[in-house]
Amino acid sequence: MNILVTGGAGFIGSNFIHWMRANAPGHRIVNVDALTYAGNLENLSDIPADGAYAFVRADIRDRAGMDAVFAKYDITHVVNFAAESHVDRSIVDPEVFLTTNVIGTQVLLDTAKRRWKTAPDDKYSRAYRPGVRFLQVSTDEVYGALGAEGKFSETTPLSPNSPYSAAKAGADMICRAYHETFGLPLNITRCSNNYGPYQFPEKLIPLMIHNCMEGKPLPVYGDGMQVRDWLHVSDHCSAIYAVLTKGVPGEVYNIGGNNERANIEIVRRILRAFGRDESLISFVRDRPGHDRRYAIDNAKITAALGWSPAYTFERGMDETIAWYRGHTEWISHVLTGEYAAYYERMYG
Ligand code: NAD
Ligand code: DAU
Repeated sequence: MNILVTGGAGFIGSNFIHWMRANAPGHRIVNVDALTYAGNLENLSDIPADGAYAFVRADIRDRAGMDAVFAKYDITHVVNFAAESHVDRSIVDPEVFLTTNVIGTQVLLDTAKRRWKTAPDDKYSRAYRPGVRFLQVSTDEVYGALGAEGKFSETTPLSPNSPYSAAKAGADMICRAYHETFGLPLNITRCSNNYGPYQFPEKLIPLMIHNCMEGKPLPVYGDGMQVRDWLHVSDHCSAIYAVLTKGVPGEVYNIGGNNERANIEIVRRILRAFGRDESLISFVRDRPGHDRRYAIDNAKITAALGWSPAYTFERGMDETIAWYRGHTEWISHVLTGEYAAYYERMYG
């Protein structure tokens, strides 16, 4: 495979590149990333730019740029991680979420369609080069929020509540349309909350770890009883590989860890790991439109593709906390002036 990984300098993308090199070597990976505040090439500093890996700084909204990458590297597979990914930022500045997450995805779909169709000028042709595949990395947030009971399945209607999740749902819909109308061989994966190394410390777990390390207050939104289904990022990577290599074209696969936790439980777990007491917890004003609970039913990917998560939450959290403790330089590098200003706006 010649795999175009977009957003490969971000949290999950960089973990995916590491995972592929360790677990499925022999493919060429081309990492296209615009290097927004969330993209950090330091995540990949141990990977040599050899025949098996190349980095291209480009924006997925740039048609000519994407076409040049497909042509130069003879791209056969796309894993589209590139996105604006933080819900709180989407509440402050929604527009870039629409241009990157929706239009950027459509540009990639168009490029793949044109480059992979065996008769690109025939609008009725649904024939593609053998083996090509587009994988859209989506999120459980497109389904909206759950009450105390139930789980999201692949047939749950989309009901996104934030500008972020609405943009991701828009991308899912345009992917669906490219499959239905043009026959483009693609899959959509919808994963629950990830945690692990290289996650930008604006997200719950790394933010709380970092604040604990600094002895700063831990800002818990509302009553802290919102529930997320946590999955270690390397389990997300193995699921993506399973879908990329074994997924049935046109199918959606949910990915989850069977691991529901209330936010306050996570915060207490981190406090305990640092031997700190609960006086650091600071209950702050709730996120507008805050989804109460997410939970993934992963029966389909488990039964159809034989995937299941390998990490227990305890092991994943221990390793993650140890990783951040051992990477204080990485943290100080990503906490740039831009992030400091954002933090001040959010929590100041
Ligand atoms: P991230 O914010 O850490 O990384 C996003 C990457 O995309 C960054 O490297 C950034 O520079 C790049 N990028 C942003 N806009 C771009 C553009 N216009 N062109 C090219 N590159 C661009 O995000 P993440 O947490 O790694 O999430 C990756 C994907 O997985 C996203 O699509 C997200 O919706 C999805 N997802 C995330 C989670 C999670 O818990 N983090 C869970 C499910 C799904
Ligand atoms: O469910 C998958 C999604 O998970 C991904 O699609 C998103 O890209 C990813 O950012 C994540 O979204 P969440 O909004 O669930 O993640 P976040 O880490 O921002 O927040 C997790 C929970 O913690 C949520 O209920 C809000 C709460 N929270 C978050 C922050 C940053 C706090 O209480 N305090 C905080 O400071």
